[in-house]
Amino acid sequence: MRVALVTGAGRGIGRAIARRLSAEGCRVALVARNREQLDETAAECAGQVHVIPADVTDADAAERVHGEVEQRWGPVEILVANAGAGHSARLERTTDADWQRMLDLNLTAPFRFVRRSVPSMRAAGWGRIVVMASTAARLGEPYIAAYTASKHGVLGLVRAAAAELARTGVTVNAVCPGYVDTPMTEQTIATIVATTGRSAAEARETLARKQPIGRLIQPDEVAEAVWFCVRSGAVTGQAIQVDGGAEQ
Ligand SMILES: NC(=O)c1ccc[n+]([C@@H]2O[C@H](COP(=O)([O-])OP(=O)(O)OC[C@H]3O[C@@H](n4cnc5c(N)ncnc54)[C@H](OP(=O)(O)O)[C@@H]3O)[C@@H](O)[C@H]2O)c1
Repeated sequence: MRVALVTGAGRGIGRAIARRLSAEGCRVALVARNREQLDETAAECAGQVHVIPADVTDADAAERVHGEVEQRWGPVEILVANAGAGHSARLERTTDADWQRMLDLNLTAPFRFVRRSVPSMRAAGWGRIVVMASTAARLGEPYIAAYTASKHGVLGLVRAAAAELARTGVTVNAVCPGYVDTPMTEQTIATIVATTGRSAAEARETLARKQPIGRLIQPDEVAEAVWFCVRSGAVTGQAIQVDGGAEQ
């Protein structure tokens, strides 16, 4: 029974990933700040789960969380660094604090969790690392410079780590979703409503049309791509797009 760790498992994409890994027979450690949401995720999982409330931007979070998992089940074999958030503002209104917050949460925190997971995976000769990126890891769009830079950074981390670990049995991949039907997208919709005066339904439709398939991506569809990365030993260093055909 593989030991998995999912950050950002309290809702949205992370919850769907936790559910999927659990359904596939993994023991799953669930990390986010909000304990109630983690408990809700745990209730939806089929097998053994362990809730670890933590802020992944704390400098010692990776050490503490991995330590707790190791004590309970042994080393993490599957790491899904999914916790993240967006930020939207014109470039000239993006403050140093906005910029730093995006880098801390979306890039530095995954780096620390990846770094902490590598020694035991290398020693075991098997490991799977998946970092949640975004279409914003590959393309530039207006008003999300800090988010875009952080997600482009994620791809750099993933590609370099995959190259370094290529002969160790450890794969490292990024999953790049388009707009997914989650609380994060609800927030994007609220921002569009507040800044443009459009209705929530219109804003949702605008985001749905960003995918050529004409709808939002479902969290389970992103979890499917994560599970593909876990199953394959031959796919590494990739940015797997789950974007309804947006980038071809
Ligand atoms: N939704 C989309 O359209 C979309 C598209 C492309 C990529 N993504 C990426 O997919 C990932 C998940 O997005 P989502 O849509 O599922 O977002 P979401 O619904 O807002 O869920 C985010 C999860 O991350 C956790 N989190 C946030 N900050 C954290 C922190 N400092 N420490 C620990 N956990 C933290 C949240 O829990 P707490 O707040 O309780 O900590 C929550 O469980 C993110 O990396 C996001 O950038 C999303």
